[in-house]
Amino acid sequence: MTRVLMVCLGNICRSPLAEGILRSKLPSPDYFIDSAGTGNYHVGSPPDPRSIEVARKHNLDISYQRARQFSIQDFDKFDHIFVMDRSNFQNVVKQARHDNDIAKVKKILDFLDDEQLIDVPDPYHDNDEGFEQVFQLLDSACLVVSKSI
Ligand code: 4NP
Repeated sequence: MTRVLMVCLGNICRSPLAEGILRSKLPSPDYFIDSAGTGNYHVGSPPDPRSIEVARKHNLDISYQRARQFSIQDFDKFDHIFVMDRSNFQNVVKQARHDNDIAKVKKILDFLDDEQLIDVPDPYHDNDEGFEQVFQLLDSACLVVSKSI
């Protein structure tokens, strides 16, 4: 089984979408997919209603997910750790214990062949259109990820 962790800051907007989207593209007996936030502000909360809604519009249910905080043990539990932006990257990598941990951490938009696309924008203070843009970015990136892991 291949284990994949999606990471953002709050684990209520971007990484729950990334988890739901990648899960829809990979068969569950072979892949375990989860998400976490580097922050602890929303631990135990469901995804932001705007993430639930944009997922539902694309026929995905992410409403059952609950936010949790990234922990050092996640380096042992997961084979791949995909972060949404450079800030998440720094926050995860600074907790790494050795090079093996660091090697698991990748920015998800690095899978898209577009040097302009570096960070999945944080849509928390944005409108519904921002959430749709995040969905489209993650759908494209997860398609490439699903073929390369
Ligand atoms: P996320 O978005 O990292 O995509 O879940 C955020 C959600 C909440 C906050 C920041 C980002 N916050 O500061 O509460």
